[in-house]
Amino acid sequence: MKNDPMNIRPRRNRKSAAIRAMVEETKIGAEHLIYPIFLKDGSGIREEVGSLPNNYRWSLDKLLPELEDCMKLGIMTYDIFPAVEEHLKDKTATYSYHEDNFYLKAIRKIKETFPELMLMSDVAMDPYSSDGHDGLVKDGKIVNDETLPILNKMALAQAQAGIDIIGPSDMMDGRVASIRETLDINGYTEVSIMSYTAKYASAFYGPFRDALNSAPKSGDKKTYQMNPANIREALIEAELDVTEGADMIMVKPALCYLDVIHVLKENFNVPVTAYNVSGECAMVYAAAEKGWLNYDLAISEMLLSMRRAGADGILTYFAKDFATLLKKR
Ligand code: PBG
Repeated sequence: MKNDPMNIRPRRNRKSAAIRAMVEETKIGAEHLIYPIFLKDGSGIREEVGSLPNNYRWSLDKLLPELEDCMKLGIMTYDIFPAVEEHLKDKTATYSYHEDNFYLKAIRKIKETFPELMLMSDVAMDPYSSDGHDGLVKDGKIVNDETLPILNKMALAQAQAGIDIIGPSDMMDGRVASIRETLDINGYTEVSIMSYTAKYASAFYGPFRDALNSAPKSGDKKTYQMNPANIREALIEAELDVTEGADMIMVKPALCYLDVIHVLKENFNVPVTAYNVSGECAMVYAAAEKGWLNYDLAISEMLLSMRRAGADGILTYFAKDFATLLKKR
């Protein structure tokens, strides 16, 4: 019977594990993961972040063996963020490129120890700024053009320390071109830029700001981060970033913005990455702790959904747990 809809039974393609595996459309492996890590000055430190269980502020000595463990699980890219002491912060984030900066020294040491691993950094003023904003604050406003030279110095210092991928997360206009030019003039043509392209003014960054004590001292980030209501604007940002020289473009957060990941993937030919941010991970940790969700199943489904939406790489605090799961499978 040609018109009998029961001729077509999608369940046949789901009838066994073997057939399900054969027709599986989306793949995810440890090679897609980028692990965000918090670094603190000192030694012997492994301090759990209160609002982000399972994640720590590490001192370098404790971090090195941890990186080795994670590499054995196949995680090869790490985004390292500095937790800077309050007294080192100032209006213009000078510590970000200071020669005594513990973070830059640590980068050098990590690359020396594990040259095969990829290190990514964040370029934005907030962890170093006494105002807690990503750009320079003047008369209560976050000024764009005067921020750019500061970001350039920060990016250059990171490149000199050996960073492989620069991640401008500040959302200032023109910063990708400005950083690219600075890197190139100084001979760092091989250093990549993964631009935070569609970074939204989101409620989901809370635990990250706890980890670094980097929350804005006044106001919010809505004059530079994007309005969660907008998707067409993401196309403008992406076009600019690609034209200005971004090698990869990122959508952040990930879960509430799968449509944005999808639309950037459809419209641009550079790799698209997703940042599964701290608040998105904290929700899962909290629910799993209460026994309301199965942690392993929930993180697998979340990360898979980001790949299905079109993400190439995924920054996620679940990286180690998920890579451990993959190894067991
Ligand atoms: C710094 C920065 C933030 C995050 C990454 N880089 C915080 C912010 O913009 O306020 C958030 C990451 C996360 O929540 O996991 N500009």
